[in-house]
Amino acid sequence: MKYLKRCIYGLALVFFSILNLQCKPEKKKEAVETETVVTKDVTIEKRSFGETPEKEKVAIYTLKNTNGIEINIMTYGGIITSLKTPNKKGISEDIVLGYNSLDEYIKSSPYFGAIIGRYGNRIAKGKFKIDGKTYTLATNDGENHLHGGLKGFDKVVWSASEETTDNSASLILSYLSKDMEEGYPGNIDVTVTYTLTNENTLEIAYQATTDKTTVVNLTQHSYFNLSGDFSKSILDQQVQINADTYIPVDQTLIPTGELATVEGTPFDFRTMKTIGKDIEVANDQLKKGLGFDHCWVLNNQNIGMRFAAKAYDPTSGRVLEVTTDEPGIQFYSGNFLDGTLPSKNGGTYAHRSGFCLETQHYPDSPNQKDFPTTILKPGKVYNSKTSFKFYVKKE
Ligand code: GLA
Repeated sequence: MKYLKRCIYGLALVFFSILNLQCKPEKKKEAVETETVVTKDVTIEKRSFGETPEKEKVAIYTLKNTNGIEINIMTYGGIITSLKTPNKKGISEDIVLGYNSLDEYIKSSPYFGAIIGRYGNRIAKGKFKIDGKTYTLATNDGENHLHGGLKGFDKVVWSASEETTDNSASLILSYLSKDMEEGYPGNIDVTVTYTLTNENTLEIAYQATTDKTTVVNLTQHSYFNLSGDFSKSILDQQVQINADTYIPVDQTLIPTGELATVEGTPFDFRTMKTIGKDIEVANDQLKKGLGFDHCWVLNNQNIGMRFAAKAYDPTSGRVLEVTTDEPGIQFYSGNFLDGTLPSKNGGTYAHRSGFCLETQHYPDSPNQKDFPTTILKPGKVYNSKTSFKFYVKKE
């Protein structure tokens, strides 16, 4: 509609410009200039955000649309450092956990807002085999490998470029992960494109190619608190997950290999319920995860992009809707947040003050023969898409 209006407006301008030209030829220059003005609905701006201890320069990009959504993303870790969306009164507030400075991210971060790779989630004992050869990765989560290792994609500086259309702005991040980096085989070329549209979606498109057979499982690790108030717990916020089954884990959060029904368990999020409703129920899986820290097996696999999950905060009215082509989603209820990390607003991030909805393949897939494969071979392209849509519900 907006586009149509703009076309009509554009045509009218051309028409009147021609008329104008014919009547007053001396005004020719001015008329042509007016005609070429292009108004972008979504803008992207770059500024410096300091440098790493290795003296690598870090930039931060601000993507802004005309509906009050403003996102900051930095080239270190491809981290979304802030994401402002309007509440039901039209007031824009930040709804993702993070820090104010690069130094704080470098010092210690539980993957706040970051791109996760080469393998999002855990790989048992940091070992897997490809064509009979065993690869050994860093074990950075007890005896397991987590989120790409000691220096995963969340801790590297990405190259960046920008692209805009009338209706969207994209930040294109790329990184070359070298053969045997963190123990993984193959040089992989990774591109992650963040696109903010004026339809209030943040789309994340992941792409990777390799020169040796390897494993890839990329995700985004934003912690949401839809209230816009980081001192509030997320337990009153509601979640829905489009999944009939989930993946039970052992004591170290490695899948047992079984897919269990959510029916009759605290893991049943098929209809909206508050995160807090069943989180304290006596349940062996909740005990192991210290809350929700599991991968749900999304319904309707193999149909491409489809509804995966939704979160809603009744107080602010904010809704977040997640669409993906991935088979799984890790729903993590911020169980390891313990009030020791400083928040952006002067306080600290308390236990369960943020939740993550990480779209991905299942944990430990390289060691689980019945899980969808995460193998990427030379000549093939890894492609994955997730979209976060933001809107408000007024009751
Ligand atoms: C993931 C994991 C959690 C935890 C967080 C980061 O979501 O599943 O167990 O490690 O990342 O703290």
